[in-house]
Amino acid sequence: MSDIYENVMEVARRRGFVWPSSEIYGSVAGFIDYGPLGAMMKRNVENVWRNFYIIQEGYYEIECPTVGAEAIFVASGHVKEFADKMCQCPHCGEYLRADHIAEEHGVEGAGALSAEMLKSRIYELPCPACGETMGETDVFNFNLMFETTIGPGSQRRGYLRPETAQGIFTDFARLLRFYRDKLPFGAVQIGKSYRNEISPRQGMIRLREFSQAEAEIFVHPEEKKHPVFHRYAEYQVPLLTYGLQETGKPPVQKTMRDAVDEGIVANEYVAYYIALTHELLVTIGVDPEKLRFRQHMPDERAHYAMDCWDAEVFSGRFGWVEIVGIADRTDYDLRAHAANSGSSFTVFIPFEEARKVSRKRIVPDMGVLGPRYRGRAKAIADTMAEATPGEAGVTVEVDGEEIFIPAEQYQIREEEVEVRGEEVMPHVIEPSYGIDRMMYVVLEHAYAEEEVEEEVRRVLRLPPAVAPVQAAVFPLMNRDGLDLIARQIADTLARRQIVAQYDDSGAIGRRYRRQDEIGTPFAVTVDYDTKEDDTVTIRDRDSMEQVRIPVDQVADVVCSLIAG
Ligand code: GAP
Repeated sequence: MSDIYENVMEVARRRGFVWPSSEIYGSVAGFIDYGPLGAMMKRNVENVWRNFYIIQEGYYEIECPTVGAEAIFVASGHVKEFADKMCQCPHCGEYLRADHIAEEHGVEGAGALSAEMLKSRIYELPCPACGETMGETDVFNFNLMFETTIGPGSQRRGYLRPETAQGIFTDFARLLRFYRDKLPFGAVQIGKSYRNEISPRQGMIRLREFSQAEAEIFVHPEEKKHPVFHRYAEYQVPLLTYGLQETGKPPVQKTMRDAVDEGIVANEYVAYYIALTHELLVTIGVDPEKLRFRQHMPDERAHYAMDCWDAEVFSGRFGWVEIVGIADRTDYDLRAHAANSGSSFTVFIPFEEARKVSRKRIVPDMGVLGPRYRGRAKAIADTMAEATPGEAGVTVEVDGEEIFIPAEQYQIREEEVEVRGEEVMPHVIEPSYGIDRMMYVVLEHAYAEEEVEEEVRRVLRLPPAVAPVQAAVFPLMNRDGLDLIARQIADTLARRQIVAQYDDSGAIGRRYRRQDEIGTPFAVTVDYDTKEDDTVTIRDRDSMEQVRIPVDQVADVVCSLIAG
C-alpha cells in the first residue's frame, strides 16, 4: 500500500503547493518553498486564524523583526536553555537527536532524560541513518538558535528568533498603554521563526525556518477567569490528561466547564483556548476524529509553564503530531525581562474601594538630621521612611552617598494608610500554532482517492475557506461565444473577491479532475444551453453533482456556498 505522505506530497509538488527550497543547488533539509497554490492556501489558513484571534477575540496583531539582539534571548533563557540533546553516529558520522532515537525505540519520556542517561539508553540502538548499532557515543547539548552578527565589525551578536513571542514581551509596556492600562489584554503575531533543528527528516513537520502564529494574553495572576468563558463552557474536547497517559488509557471527552471544575485544566483561560483551538483546527479542515489535546507530563513541561496542552493531530505517516501548544507561562518571561532590562512589567490595578493598610515607617529622632545633613534632612527622612531597617540601623542612599543611621536614633511607627490599588505582574497565557504543520495535516486529511468511471480520482476535500482556488470557470468549448461568457463570469467572481480560475484547455472531464486535485470546491461550466436559457451548471467537488443556475446568480450562489 502506498504511503499517504508520498501521495499527498506528490500532488503537493506537482500542483505547486510545496517544493523543496533551492532545488537547483541540491536543497537543504528543513527548508521549503510554498508554490503558487501553497502560498495562497497558507494565506487562507492564516486568515482563518486572524478571524478567530483578531476579529473574534479582539487582540491586535503586531510585527517585530525576525533578528533580535542577544540581550533578548539571554533574558528569555534561550541562550542558556534552548538546546536539544545531540549525538553523532560513530559509523556514518550523521548528527542525530539522541532523545528521538530513544523515543523511536519505546523509551518513554526520553525528552526529559539527561545526556548521561540518554547515552546509556541509545548504546544498543540502531542509528536511524545507517542502521549500525550506536555504541559508545557522547550526547551533548546543541543550541538550536541561528546566531548572527548585527552590523559590520561582528561586534553585536544577534539571533534569528526561535519564537515570535519574545517580540510581544519586549513590547509589553507599549502594548499596555495601547490597551489603556487594563488587564486582560493580548497581542498576536504571525511570522517566521528559526530553529537549527539537528536532523529534520519529517518534511513540513520539522523545519529550520517555519511560520508561527502566536497569541500572548496578559491576565491578572490571581484571576484567571476568562471574561466570556461561557462561549466555550459547553464545548466538548477529547482530553488526554497526564494521569490517563500514565495508565495508558484513551482521552476523555469533556466540556470545558467540567474540565475546569474537576481541576483537569489549570484555569478558564487555558480551557478556553483549548476549545477555540479545536474549533479553529476543524474549521481549516482537520478531521475531528484525528484530533486530541494532550497534557504535558510534569517532567516534559517547559521550564516556564505551569500547565501545557498540545493539540495533537493524527497523521498516517507521523502518528500523533503536535500542531499547537497552549501554555500558562506564568510571569516567567515578564519577570526575566524586568530583571534584565530594568523596565517595568507591572500593571497598576485599582481597588474598587480604597483600602486601609497598616504600614511601618522609620521616623528619625528630633535633631538627628541636624547640622551635619543640612539641606538633605528631608530627603534622608523620606528615604528612611520607606527603607527596611537592619538590626543595628538603617542604610539609606541619598545623592549617591550611603548614610548609616544607627537604630537608637530613630523609631519605627506603625500607621494606617489608604491604598488605592496595587502593582501586579501579569501572567501570560499562550496559544502557539505551527502554520506549516497545520498546512501538512490539512492536506493529508483532505486527500482522498476514489474510483470514478474506472479511473482513480484524486481529490483534496479542502474547506472553501482554505482552498487556494474557490471556483473554476470553464467554457465547454473554446468557441461560439462560450469562452466570452465564461470570462465574464470569472470577472464577476473576481469582483466579489472570489479566487476563480478560468480554464479552457483540454477535455472537460480532465479539467474537473485538475480542479479536484487542487481542492477547488465549485466549478461553473458554460455550455450550449447557456446560450439558449442563460443558465450554467455548477458542480460540487465532493458529490460531483451538478445543478443548473441562472448566469446572473452565479456570484451570489458561489458566495453563499463558500460561506457555508
Ligand atoms: N512560543 C512557544 C513555542 O514556540 P513550541 O511548542 O516550541 O512553543 C509552537 O512551538 C509550535 O510551533 C509547535 O506546536 C509547532 O506546531 C511549531 N513548531 C515548532 N518547531 C517547529 C519546527 N521545527 N518546524 C515546524 N514547526 C515547528
